[in-house]
Amino acid sequence: MKIKEIFSPAQIQQRIAELGQEISREYQDQELYVVPILTGSLIFAADLIRQIKGVDLQLHCMAASSYHDSTETSGNVQINLDLKVDIFNKNILIVEDIVDTGTTLLKLREMLEARHPRQIKLASLLSKPGRRIYEISIDYLGFEVENQFVVGYGFDYQGRMRELPYIGVLAP
Ligand code: IMP
Repeated sequence: MKIKEIFSPAQIQQRIAELGQEISREYQDQELYVVPILTGSLIFAADLIRQIKGVDLQLHCMAASSYHDSTETSGNVQINLDLKVDIFNKNILIVEDIVDTGTTLLKLREMLEARHPRQIKLASLLSKPGRRIYEISIDYLGFEVENQFVVGYGFDYQGRMRELPYIGVLAP
């Protein structure tokens, strides 16, 4: 299968360094719980946290999967791995791979809000605004992409291609 590169490793790392600087400024000397949503955001989160400096950072992972049922507009989001820590009064930074329809983020946010953190912000490597069903505000965004299926750098096609160092689209 042919893959057309849309973001090179260097472009990705450059953007992540910028996001890291912004996040570092925002949370300087403060406590921050970084919450990657597995599996897609694993690689982005690993690179992002190493660009965050001077922050009292902890890493706590969650895993979610969403099922889009064509008979209803709202997808079903299932939590496969929940946080092991209490987030009451904590600053939370959710780290996602992509905001597509927004279903996953909407449900996740609702769930975490119910635990009364101090604040929840969102970092997402990619966004497909053209596919949005729910309005989601992304505080730290890597890149916007068109309505196309991306692979690599954490993004999978049927479970594969996550290890590619670049982001690409499947070429027919
Ligand atoms: P949403 O709930 O529709 O926003 O979908 C979010 C999830 O769908 C993401 O966390 C990804 O795991 C997956 N996803 C959406 N678009 C793509 C894509 O282009 N490539 C790979 N996975 C995708």
